[in-house]
Order: sequence, then structure tokens, then C-alpha cells
Amino acid sequence: MTDQLHDTAVRGFASDNYSGVHPEVLAAIAAANGGHQVAYGEDVYTERLQEVFARHFGDGVEVFPVFNGTGANVTGLQSMLPRWGAVISASTAHINSDEGGAPERVGGIKLLTVPTPDGKLTPELIDREAWGWGDEHRAQPLVVSITQTTELGTAYSVDEIRAIADHVHERGMKLHLDGARLSNAAASLGLPLRAFTRDAGVDLLSFGGTKNGALGAEAIVVLNPEASEGLKYLRKLNMQLASKMRFVSAQLIALLEGDLWLQSASHANAMARRLRDALDAGIAAGDLPGLGFSQATQSNGVFAVLPDGVADRLREGGFRFYDWDAAKGEVRWMCSFDTSEDDIDAFVAGIREELHRAA
Ligand SMILES: Cc1ncc(COP(=O)(O)O)c(C=O)c1O
Repeated sequence: MTDQLHDTAVRGFASDNYSGVHPEVLAAIAAANGGHQVAYGEDVYTERLQEVFARHFGDGVEVFPVFNGTGANVTGLQSMLPRWGAVISASTAHINSDEGGAPERVGGIKLLTVPTPDGKLTPELIDREAWGWGDEHRAQPLVVSITQTTELGTAYSVDEIRAIADHVHERGMKLHLDGARLSNAAASLGLPLRAFTRDAGVDLLSFGGTKNGALGAEAIVVLNPEASEGLKYLRKLNMQLASKMRFVSAQLIALLEGDLWLQSASHANAMARRLRDALDAGIAAGDLPGLGFSQATQSNGVFAVLPDGVADRLREGGFRFYDWDAAKGEVRWMCSFDTSEDDIDAFVAGIREELHRAA
């Protein structure tokens, strides 16, 4: 037995990936253990997973479990594009800013990026890069990728996604969605998963389990089979084909068969809401000098702006979180399925103390 090397009472606001595995997911891994099952996805758990996803997204969807979100994005996008294709995304998209160049270097995909105020593309913003079809000198814009919820904690409405999907399809392109936090989006919108994905015109998505309590379990979900080709082969050549896939699938089943996915995401969102509401109330009362916000809080992340030095002093005091744009004093506070109300209340008190000290 390995010794426990960390203090399990310590939590922070650095990332939803800092959290551990939800106990029900761990139990599902244990339940899938023992005996032999066919490797590489021919097991009974992966078979069941297709049914579970069909319940959420409708008949005819195809699910490809993978290890991580970068692999899901790169592999999914590759399956949507010919060799000469390009992907339009927000400049803040994870595929552009946080995947080490994997879409370009591993996927061989040109990214055409557009700055946005809030991480969300619109038809107008897409049009800045949606041009040049038929010109052999330009990488051909054939896919648009959006992230739901976005890297900036904002959420697209159904109408916004539908407007993007219509715009994209009218121009002969396809719509990809990075859903590393898709469950948080469903919780935020109060809608079933298919309402703002398949039914709104999304062709293929990456479904995130890891940030919502899984242990390296994500999935590529093909919503429109005509929009994707060769995933069976691409997953393997991109090193995302799990031999013991039953354990990846069992985790996604644990999340999605009942409502664990929604409970956990709703809780994470509610904790971010609690943090934002407490700080908004403090600002309204004139009690939090110098604090501002750079984004709406619509999921499990709060994006704040702090006076000089305050972020570092909070971290010295033991609170964990990252700068988002240090030059602007912008920080990101993420909540997880295991963030507690006490964590939030202690953090609010800490922020108040440091803001007063700095004022
Ligand atoms: C928007 C988004 N997409 C995808 C990912 C998945 O990344 P990873 O490859 O680390 O699982 C993340 C994780 O931070 C993310 O925030």
C-alpha cells in the first residue's frame, strides 16, 4: 500500500483538475475489476456506454472513449478535416492556448484564431476567418470549434449555438465543440445535454469527465456521422486507444447513467456562484476596495481583477489559484465537485482581509 503523501483536507481554487476522483467513480473502477474482458473497447462496459450516451444525445451517436481532452480535441478535429483543412476558434480556446501546439503538430491542423471579449465566437467573429475557399494559398476553413462552457467561465445559450451552427453549415463548414466542461454547461443552462449540442447543430464534441470527478476519462462523441471519418483508426494512431478501456468506460457510465454528472457539475457551479455573490455583495457594501470582475460567472469559474500584490499575498497565505493575465491583475478561481461552502467562506474572508490591507 502506498503511503498517503498529501493532506487530503487541503483544497484550492487553482483548477477543477486539482480535485481527486469522485468516490462513486472510484467505486465504479473497482466494480469493473476482476476477471478478463476483451481489450481495446470490445468489453461490456464500452458496449453499455454507447447506450448511456444514446440516452443523453439520442440514437445514432457514436462514442469513442479516450484518455484526455487534448487527445479528444485533436483526434475529433482530425476526423472532421481533410489534410488541407483549417479550424476557426477563439484565440482563448484550449486547442490554441493550452494544448502545446498539438492540433498543429500532432494533428497537422492549421488554426485560424479570433480574439473575443468573453471566449465566445459569434457568426460575425467567425467571418473574420471564414473566407478564401477554393484559394489554394489559404488553409481551407472547414471546421469551427467552440468551447462550452468557455475557457473564461462563460456559457453559450442554445440560440447562440444554433446561430453559429446555421452560419457554419450554410458555408459548408462543420461545428466542433470542446465540452471539457459540458456538464457544467448543462447545469448552468438547466437543459439536457442534447438540447444545446446535437439539437442545436453541433456535429462532433469532446465530452469531459475528468474535471467532473473522473480519472482521465473523456470521450469523442460523433453526433452527425456524416461529419467525421476514420475515428476508429485515428484514435489509435493518436495514442488514445486504451487497451483496458473497460475502466475508462466504467467511469463515464458512473457519471452519466444516473445524475452524478449533473449533481457534481451543479455543485461546482453553485460554489462559484456563492463566491461571486458574496464578493458582489461586499463590493456593493463598499467593503472590498479595488476588487473587480472581468467575466460573467456562468459556470464553475470566477474571473476577478485584483489590485497589485493582492494575489501573491493571498497565495502566501495558503490560498491556491492562478493568474490568468498577470499584467492586468486578472486571476481565475475554479470550483470543483468537492469544493465546500466553508472553502468559499474562508476564501471570501481572506480576500476581504488582503484587500483592506492593500487599500
Ligand atoms: C476547455 C478545455 N478543453 C480541454 C481540456 C482538456 O485538457 P487535457 O488534455 O488536460 O485533459 C481542458 C483542460 O484544462 C480545458 O479546459
